[in-house]
Amino acid sequence: MKELVSQADWKDYLSPVWPHFSDIMADRGMGAALIDQNGDRYLDFTSGIGVTNTGHCHPRVVKAIQNQAEKLLHGQATIFYHKPMQDLVTELRQVVPSSLNSFFFSNSGSEAVESAIKLARHATGRTNLICFQGGYHGRTVGAMSVTTAKRIYRLHYQPLMPGVIVAPFPSSEEETERCLEALEQLLFTQTAPAETAAMIVEPVLGEGGYMVPSATFLQGLRSICDQHGILLILDEVQSGFGRTGTFFAFEHFRILPDILIMAKGMASGLPLSGIASSRERMEKWIQGSHGGTYGGNPLACAAAAETIRVIHDEHLVERSAKAGRQLVHLLQAVTRTHPSLVEVRGLGLMVGCEFRDGNGKPDGKKASEIRRRCLEKGLLLLTCGTHDHVIRWIPPLVVTEQELHHAVSLFAESVAETGDRLG
Ligand SMILES: Cc1ncc(COP(=O)(O)O)c(C=O)c1O
Repeated sequence: MKELVSQADWKDYLSPVWPHFSDIMADRGMGAALIDQNGDRYLDFTSGIGVTNTGHCHPRVVKAIQNQAEKLLHGQATIFYHKPMQDLVTELRQVVPSSLNSFFFSNSGSEAVESAIKLARHATGRTNLICFQGGYHGRTVGAMSVTTAKRIYRLHYQPLMPGVIVAPFPSSEEETERCLEALEQLLFTQTAPAETAAMIVEPVLGEGGYMVPSATFLQGLRSICDQHGILLILDEVQSGFGRTGTFFAFEHFRILPDILIMAKGMASGLPLSGIASSRERMEKWIQGSHGGTYGGNPLACAAAAETIRVIHDEHLVERSAKAGRQLVHLLQAVTRTHPSLVEVRGLGLMVGCEFRDGNGKPDGKKASEIRRRCLEKGLLLLTCGTHDHVIRWIPPLVVTEQELHHAVSLFAESVAETGDRLG
């Protein structure tokens, strides 16, 4: 007999491996607004972890998906070509450096990370990878193996993929030199350049706590890679598509990757990811040795091509830079009266607020409590950082000035309610 799932208990049928930060039953979204089934309105400053950069349901993106849905839903990339992928490649060529002139598409950020690792190994004939402390690259086994943002991502899954060496990531400008020296040392002591295929790094640390390294650090990685024929893989899954006030975050640091990883903001919510590299390098990737059923799906490609056009037409990169400056300015005012909020940092609309207790220790409890209080007031925010002690601000790039002011006032109220106030 068919088991009936009542409205009340259907959630019990979901795997508890998914934590749930809210009980919101979402109905619809537009821009930064999310509306639940009761008609209650929330300000969504999570963007679904940095995905809906053009806002929820941007009308042009929705239209592009609707138009495509009437024509072709699935188009397996090795069986035939399709126009949405042609359009996407054309649009990407406008925003990706011309040296990265070959693209491979998949569905999630993790999958694109796997692609980058596999390409790096085939293209160099080398095995090992260097990743950076605090980095997050996803939860498939290869991606997990280069992830060190929190121990829960690795707990009881080990042993993971061998051949991974973890290098330090600078938590301040002053640490740059020490970290670069440590990296050189690793190449001398743990992984010879001749067996090191690539370094993988997020230009701005995401899950690891919204940390922005100095340009000197990333330029240092670039030069060490060049010196030894090691590939530099930049994971722009979270930082790409206008998020940091440039189209890709690497533009801030005046470096170019050998392999660029993209996802999240790429298709405004449809599952799409990809890597870009040079044609010459991609030709070393043994044909047929990598692929997938859904990668480069026509609906997702149509959404992505339109997303890039919207970002361009609505000047969302510039808006991200400007709104980001306003946001940092507003949040800095909160730091002056609340000593536990020790730092506001970020680039564009990728901004982190770090909380520490009276002993200077990361205060994850406080950050989570503030997140919970903001939720009660109708503001959705996420945390990040090794101890979940950083509140991250990733509103859609279409966020209005009024929404920014409102969100920061709700946040300030919530911080004050936790009993932390000067003067
Ligand atoms: C920098 C970075 N890389 C990779 C991933 C993994 O992407 P996905 O969750 O789509 O697999 C994420 C997800 O948060 C990310 O932030």
